[in-house]
This record gives sequence, C-alpha cells and structure tokens, in this order.
Amino acid sequence: MRARRALLYMPGDDMHKIQKATTLGVDCICMDMEDGVALSRKAEARQTIAHALDSLDFGRSERQARINPVGSGLEGDDLTAVLPSRPDTIVVPKVESADQVRWVSEQIAAVEAATGWPEGGIRMIVLVETAGGIVRLKEIASADPRLEALIFGSEDLASDMGAIRTQAGWEIFYARSAVVTHAAAYDLQAIDMVYIDFRDTEGLRRESVQGAQMGFAGKQIIHPNQVGPVQAAFTPEDSEIAYAQKVMAAFKENQKAGLGAFALDGKMIDAPIVKAAERVLARALAAGKIPPENQS
Ligand code: COA
Ligand code: MG
Repeated sequence: MRARRALLYMPGDDMHKIQKATTLGVDCICMDMEDGVALSRKAEARQTIAHALDSLDFGRSERQARINPVGSGLEGDDLTAVLPSRPDTIVVPKVESADQVRWVSEQIAAVEAATGWPEGGIRMIVLVETAGGIVRLKEIASADPRLEALIFGSEDLASDMGAIRTQAGWEIFYARSAVVTHAAAYDLQAIDMVYIDFRDTEGLRRESVQGAQMGFAGKQIIHPNQVGPVQAAFTPEDSEIAYAQKVMAAFKENQKAGLGAFALDGKMIDAPIVKAAERVLARALAAGKIPPENQS
C-alpha cells in the first residue's frame, strides 16, 4: 500500500493552497468540500477541485477529494463534480455505517464503468469521527474492497460526545485506539488525528511519534509547516531499518536450522518481532528509503 504519512487538507475553494500543496512533497493532498468550506462556497469548491485535478501536476502526491457526509444532501453533487476528473481517492467524512461506504463505492463504480476506467481503481478512505461510527467500526472496516484506510477524527468525535478536549487526550483515547485496532484487523491503514496548534512543532512531533507507536501509518495535517515533522515521525529511522534487516536475515538463517525463536544481540526474537521488522521494512519501502530489492 502507498505511503500516507501525512494527509494535508486545504479548503477546496482555495486554488492558491491547492497549488502550494503540490510543491510540498506531501504524501496526500486532500482537497476539501466538507467542513473547511462555507456552505455558500460548496459549488465553487467543486469546480475548483475539478479544475485543479485537470490542470495541476501533483507529482507523487496522492490526489484526494473529501466529499460531504452521506445523507447531507451535498454528497451526490460533490461526487458528480469531481469524479470525471479522476481523483486517486475519495475521502468520506462522518461515516457511521457499512451502507454509507457501499453507497459511495457504487457511485464510483458507476463512473468507472461508464468511462471504461479499471473497476476499483479509485480508492476510498473514510473518517470515523462520531460515537455512532466508533461503535460500528467493524462493519465499516469490512464494508468494501475499495476501502484502504480509516481516519480518526478527534475534534468531531469530542463534540459529538460532549467531551472536552485536553492536551493529554484521555477523553478520545478509547476511540483513537479502537480505530487503529480495527484498521489492523481488516488490513487497512490508520491515519491519526489533526494537531490543531500548527505553530507548536514540539507538541506536533510528540503526538506524531505517539501515533506511530500506536500503529498509525500517518496523520492528518492542516498546515505546510506540519509536513516535515509528521512525515519524519512516520518514516522509520536508518537504525530501525538496519535492525529490521538484521532481524530478517537472522530469521531466515534460523528458519533453515529449524528454530522459531532465537537470540539476537541478547534479545529474544520470535514471530511477532519478525512481523514488526517486516512492517518497518514495508514502511521504509513505501517512504522510498530502501529500494524494492532490499526489502528483506
Ligand atoms: N494547504 C496548503 N497551503 C496552505 C495551507 C494548507 N492547508 N495552510 C496554509 N497554506 C499556505 C498559505 O496560503 C500561505 O501561502 P503563501 O505564503 O503562499 O501566502 C502559507 O501556507 C502560510 O500560511 P499561514 O499564513 O501560516 O496560514 P494562514 O493563516 O494563511 O492559514 C489556516 C491558516 C488554518 C486557515 C490554513 O492553514 C488552512 O486553511 N488549513 C486547512 C484548513 C482545513 O482544510 N480544514 C478542514 C479539514 S480539518
Ligand atoms: Mg471533521
């Protein structure tokens, strides 16, 4: 799966920000039609996003469009406007059921069929950011093969639950943990919450590292200054990569000798450690830090 270390939002009606985003080397550029856009500007955002998709060079960045929630009454027009310009991925907010995921997938499938694009080529990512979404994570995560990632939305969740956001984040910790766990169970990527205070680089770094330690593949961001620190936090260090390669080499040797568990540098290595090493190498590969043939 492709690297999604940082997913940068910008209001879809702001061509300047979209253009700027294409210069940042960010993994995902998410052009928003939902909460970043005023109700009076939805039509403008749809047009601007379609125009950006048609005319800008996004380089290696993933071209994402975030629609309004299914059931808002805006989602149909959002899809109709942007799908013909063939975004890489549709991002769906406030998802609460498998039916909502499948409905969007069917709309995409209809356009793919009508245009002759490969079926399933346009991917989907959903935000889970309401109490209803959290309690139905299992059905959402397993709803459709087009789905590649789950995003955790902390601010909407807190507001839905009547929780008060704190720096420590215990009020959203169950949900944050539930999202990353369900993603792992269904082979999806998990993308962590936004760090709102975009001038606080140290706080951002801390929260990004914590997310990476929890198993998130990346983090949502809202400002160009957040790209560097976040992508670094979700890229394995050279020392981690070297150690993972050493684990894989030792694992292969010991497998030949018929040993499942063995010692390496005074530490016990067995199946879960080997799997973790494989994941480090997969992330390093996706981030372009190792060439494909050196994967293990
Ligand atoms: N994407 C791309 N470019 C962005 C950007 C973003 N999310 N946020 C800021 N920029 C650009 C600005 O346009 C400015 O460009 P310039 O130097 O060429 O003029 C530069 O980065 C510096 O921006 P700055 O002045 O520090 O911020 P701001 O006051 O213009 O904007 C926000 C602050 C919060 C309004 C802005 O960062 C933003 O729109 N973020 C995304 C909001 C969003 O989409 N929310 C919904 C999803 S949670
Ligand atoms: Mg939201």
